[in-house]
Amino acid sequence: MQILQAISTRRSIRNFKNQHVARELIEQVLIAGVLAPSGKNRQPWHFTVLLGEKKTTLVDILESTVSHLKEQGLQTGSAEWTAKAMRQAPVCIVVHNPYASAEDDDNGANRYWSLVDTQSIGAAIQNMLLQAEALNLGTLWICDVFYAEQQINNFLGRNDEMIAAIALGYADAAPAARPRRAFSEVTTWL
Ligand SMILES: Cc1cc2nc3c(=O)[nH]c(=O)nc-3n(C[C@H](O)[C@H](O)[C@H](O)COP(=O)(O)O)c2cc1C
Repeated sequence: MQILQAISTRRSIRNFKNQHVARELIEQVLIAGVLAPSGKNRQPWHFTVLLGEKKTTLVDILESTVSHLKEQGLQTGSAEWTAKAMRQAPVCIVVHNPYASAEDDDNGANRYWSLVDTQSIGAAIQNMLLQAEALNLGTLWICDVFYAEQQINNFLGRNDEMIAAIALGYADAAPAARPRRAFSEVTTWL
C-alpha cells in the first residue's frame, strides 16, 4: 500500500524551493537506484551528482547550447522550460550507461544490450523518484539534456552514453495529477 501511495502521489516537479538537500537524503535516493533489477544484473548505471556551481554550469551549458540551436532555426522542444526547472533545483543527477558509447549504432547485436540496459536504467530512475517521494523530495526526470549531450559529456569528462538526468529538491509546487489512460485502454487480455 505504501508503494502504491508513493506511485500515485509522485509528480514531475518544475518549481523547487531554494533549500539545501542533505547529502544523506541524496544518498538514500542513490541507494534506491542501485537496488533496481537489471538485465543479467549488469547494473548498467553511473550517477553524477551535481551541486552548487557544478550544477549551475550544467544548466548554463544546456541553456547556451539550446540557444545556439534556436539561432540555427532548429527545434529545441521543451528544453528551455526544462532548463528553468534545473536552474531552481539544488541537485541534478546525470545518469550514464558506462557499457555504451554515444557513438554506438544501436542495431544488430547492440540493439539487444541497448534495450536491456536502457530498461534497467529506467527501473533505477523510477526507484529513485519513488524514494525521493517517500523522503518528501520533488523530482523531474529529464531527457532534454540530449540537446546538449556532447557538451555535457565534455564538461563531465565522460564519453559513455548519457541516458537521462534527474532534478531533485524540495517542491515549490503541488501539481494536480496529470492524465493517464486507463489500464483497460492499453491492455489486451487473451
Ligand atoms: C523518459 C522521460 C523523459 C522526460 N523528460 C522530461 C524533460 O526533459 N523535461 C520535462 O519537463 N519533463 C520530462 N519528463 C516528465 C514528463 O513530462 C512527465 O512524467 C509526464 O508529463 C507525466 O507527468 P507526471 O510525471 O507529473 O505524472 C520526462 C519523463 C520521462 C519518463
